[in-house]
Amino acid sequence: MERLITFEGTEGCGKTTQIRMAGEYLGQRRVPFIITAEPGGSALGNRIREILLNRGPYEINAEAELFLFMAARAQHVRETIIPALRSDKLVICDRFSDATLAYQGFGRGLDIDFIRQINLFASASLKPAMTILFDLPAEEGLMRAKKRIAQNGKEASAEDRFEQETLAFHRNIREGYLSLARGEPGRFRIIDGSKDISAVHREVCVHMEAFITG
Ligand SMILES: Nc1ncnc2c1ncn2[C@@H]1O[C@H](COP(=O)(O)OP(=O)(O)O)[C@@H](O)[C@H]1O
Ligand SMILES: [Mg+2]
Repeated sequence: MERLITFEGTEGCGKTTQIRMAGEYLGQRRVPFIITAEPGGSALGNRIREILLNRGPYEINAEAELFLFMAARAQHVRETIIPALRSDKLVICDRFSDATLAYQGFGRGLDIDFIRQINLFASASLKPAMTILFDLPAEEGLMRAKKRIAQNGKEASAEDRFEQETLAFHRNIREGYLSLARGEPGRFRIIDGSKDISAVHREVCVHMEAFITG
């Protein structure tokens, strides 16, 4: 039950790019795995993700946003992650509980201890065994995310709504992630996300290999 690995970091830091490449690596190593992502990872999670895209004429305040992410996580963990772990698969997840602490806590300013409590409830107390944090200056990440949005067109990400937030918001999130990593050095691996894609991938592989064999 301990083979959950999460990929975290700010907009455009390379999580989705790197998780795909990590999947190819695990495939070559013949390690059974699934790749999943938040918000999403279940039918309900995908419906919530659509709501979070916020294309409609409604507002989502910080508190409501928090519970939408938590509702998606509660379903995702029980419907997808726990069954995969029980069938001895390694689960790599694109964002998880740390993202809520970083975005809704450090970013939106909601109470961190409260978020920790409901994170435990939503995730059935499941904690990642290893979290890879791609660290990147907020400016660079936003530039990359803008480029990605322009390229992807319709295939929008639930993260796109955060892209409209201020630079200060994104800086707070970066600092928030780094402070979470300092608090749990045994779980976090920090990778400099400003290196090129293949250099970052090599570092991811080193951590994955140590995890698999360790
Ligand atoms: N190390 C990198 N250097 C330059 N561009 C990158 C790097 N990693 C990812 N990108 C590009 O930046 C954009 C955002 O990457 P993505 O993996 O979607 O980030 P995230 O999932 O963390 O938001 C994509 O267009 C991707 O090709
Ligand atoms: Mg992504």
